[in-house]
Amino acid sequence: MIQRPRGTRDFGPAEMAKRRKVELAMREACSRFGFGEVVTPTFEHSELFTLRSGQSIVDEMYVFKDKGDREMALRPEITASVIRFYVNEMSTHPKPLKLYYVGNCFRYENPQSGRYREFFQIGAELIGSKNPETDAEVIALAVNCIRSAGLENFVVRVGHIGVLKSLVREQIEDEKAAADVLRMIDKEDWDALGDMFDARVLPRKLFDRITAIADIKGGIEELNNLEDSEATRHLRELFDVLRLYGIEDCQVDLGIVRGLDYYTGMVFEIDAPKLGAEKQVLGGGSYALSELFGGEPVFSTGFAIGIDRVALAIDAERKIEPKPALDAYVIPTKDDMRKYAFGMVARLRSQGLRADVDLMRRTMSKNLKYASSLGARFAVIVGKEEMAKRSVTLRDMTSGKQEVVLADNIASEICKRMG
Ligand code: HAM
Repeated sequence: MIQRPRGTRDFGPAEMAKRRKVELAMREACSRFGFGEVVTPTFEHSELFTLRSGQSIVDEMYVFKDKGDREMALRPEITASVIRFYVNEMSTHPKPLKLYYVGNCFRYENPQSGRYREFFQIGAELIGSKNPETDAEVIALAVNCIRSAGLENFVVRVGHIGVLKSLVREQIEDEKAAADVLRMIDKEDWDALGDMFDARVLPRKLFDRITAIADIKGGIEELNNLEDSEATRHLRELFDVLRLYGIEDCQVDLGIVRGLDYYTGMVFEIDAPKLGAEKQVLGGGSYALSELFGGEPVFSTGFAIGIDRVALAIDAERKIEPKPALDAYVIPTKDDMRKYAFGMVARLRSQGLRADVDLMRRTMSKNLKYASSLGARFAVIVGKEEMAKRSVTLRDMTSGKQEVVLADNIASEICKRMG
């Protein structure tokens, strides 16, 4: 038997019904906020991601040469593709441009629960500004997506990359060393950071300052522990707008550095604490990528949500109840009723109901068993006697209650009972 590759998954119909429910709720939130859907290729020239996404993403990329000897990569994320698309074809569109996407991404990571080599994101990018209000709009959308999906316990942390990035870059000239320091802060690996400071004889005062800033976590008043700057003013204004949007429970976290390298301003993450190690369900922030891809400079803010993790987190809170897969399953009582049954199922389908019919020539009891294994709400039993009266028997598969109804009214009779 050939097995699927490590870190990938197959999803059966029941699992997909749950996942689509979560995805659809988040898509609808994007539409409510005026975001339009875009689709970009699953693979891109690898350069698109190596230019700015950062070393940790590059190390995890699936890269291959195509038959024309061009280096390609399966997308590890979708932001870079959206901005490439914007630079190629949409740069003259009126701003702000609000785009969202849903798609699979690939990262060669060590697989574990909540961490896969192929995973699914829904994300949004607002292109055109880096005002506190555009950042707030994006955070409000993110929170709305997560809430609409049905997740109840989550923590929104908002920071500003400018504070730590400018401090580190000002004080550590060597670009690679500065990037290493930021990566260690992102991973909260204070031991490794301490060792690096010792090995490079970097000032201890800088280490203490970094850890003190990374420790600023809590309510907006935590910003009083920092001197006034563009970053603190930005965050204060942003929190004011969030409050007007009715979003009161965001925390400040100046320790957020993010694994991707392209962020320039506000950064934010959402965690679902129930998930344990892989609890981050969302990451995002403001960035400037268009110039790097050959376009005019423009600021954007966006996020991506790990659909797999949101579905896992909702499952950890309570089971996601997908709708039953079928409204009606049509059962002919005898062979000579088959043609009548096909006409009946066609009628149900044409009236918008999800309907199926016996295709295996089973007995009545086996058909009822099969219908219940499919999760059908009703069985529509077509027999000779009923046919003579232009009727069918409608069986509620949950209660077992049976009623004879007119065949012509079958769809409306089912809809009436489904409420
Ligand atoms: P990211 O933080 O790398 O950001 O990924 C976003 C989300 O994707 C994570 O919070 C997590 O839920 C999910 N995720 C990442 N890797 C895996 C994995 N191996 N298995 C399962 N889920 C995973 C981005 O991708 C940025 N493009 C976000 C963004 C958009 N920033 C601005 N615009």
